[in-house]
Amino acid sequence: MIYLDTAASFPILPEVKATLTDAFDSFYANSASGHRLGTIVSKDINKIREQLADSIGAYPSEIVFTSGATESNNIAFKSLLLGGEIPANKKHIITSQIEHKCIFAICDYLESLGYEITYLKPNQSGIIEPQSVKNALRDDTALVSIMHVNNELGTINPIADIGNVCFEKGVLFHSDAAQSFGKIDIDVDHLNVDVVSFSAHKIGGPKGIGAIYIRDFRKKHLVPVIHGAGQEEGLRGGTVAAPLILGFGKAIEIFPASYKQFKELNIKEYLINQLDINKIYFKINGDDRVLQNCISITLPETNIALLIREHEANFCLAQGSACSSKEIEASHVLTALGLSRELAEKTLRISFPLDISKSQIDELVKAVKKVTRDSRLIDNAYIPGSNVVSYSEELEPAG
Ligand SMILES: Cc1ncc(COP(=O)(O)O)c(C=O)c1O
Repeated sequence: MIYLDTAASFPILPEVKATLTDAFDSFYANSASGHRLGTIVSKDINKIREQLADSIGAYPSEIVFTSGATESNNIAFKSLLLGGEIPANKKHIITSQIEHKCIFAICDYLESLGYEITYLKPNQSGIIEPQSVKNALRDDTALVSIMHVNNELGTINPIADIGNVCFEKGVLFHSDAAQSFGKIDIDVDHLNVDVVSFSAHKIGGPKGIGAIYIRDFRKKHLVPVIHGAGQEEGLRGGTVAAPLILGFGKAIEIFPASYKQFKELNIKEYLINQLDINKIYFKINGDDRVLQNCISITLPETNIALLIREHEANFCLAQGSACSSKEIEASHVLTALGLSRELAEKTLRISFPLDISKSQIDELVKAVKKVTRDSRLIDNAYIPGSNVVSYSEELEPAG
């Protein structure tokens, strides 16, 4: 089985697995307990808090562990907006049409409480432009939330510039960094962000653990996302998931160097070249500012449904995002880019594991070719100006 869906979740790193086993064996005490083992566990958790804070240029007191990016995003919107931190008359939120679906669910909820939401459209390359944020800002804007890296396209938004726009207007700025953390550098000051969401399983850590960075957290008035016994400074009740946090810490330590090595493989360029050599028509969605481990590719002459069905046992492939892959609706990200439903359905999101090999890519291309119409029969079959371009038109290195 060739796993090509790491944007949905990375396989757990062996070092993380070893850390988890060790933690489940030895660090089972409740970190709130006053005895020796509880104190050790509590100290270890705080070491990871420090490690995460260091890696993004923050203070440990500004990090709260959560169950993942979905929960962090909930905190970023609900805990901040409903906690009295923002004047009650500010009820406008700016986000984008290409965020993770959890953001839309949170916004729907806030809309039911009287908030007004502006969903910014990306440009043709899938990027949210700082100018469009600037144009949308109003006197009553309470929060801007724009993801760092898009989970279907791999595109990297100009977060520092957007942050600057928000800073100049004194508006709170949140970024969902679930896909970028560990893969590209994040410094909360350079990026001008106030709040950032993280997830461990996008970097080879365990599922069910993540974190949120909140600038000057202790000075802020926040509504708890889970009311509990005071854990995580009262923001997030429940016994702290020590083993998962230790596993997350190991992933933070190991993943970036492994990812750097993976980037040297230039596997995406290899895939693009192989498609080209095999004369398979394709269009890459997004621009050249994209992560190296992710590519969104439209194959207009390929029977994608057949490819997925016939190779269920060979490839783990996604059409759009994992959360929407079982839905009948076309991906909201692709439709925001202007792709027709038909082309969106002809699109694969391929996201590579760190140990991918060229021979595995050859296998994929061979399978794609088998269910693709011969391009020699369909030359000039495309309408100029449509979203579809021939394989030879778009070979820019991405990454
Ligand atoms: C951009 C983005 N935000 C949020 C999430 C949700 O993360 P988690 O599974 O940690 O809740 C994901 C992953 O599915 C994602 O890609």
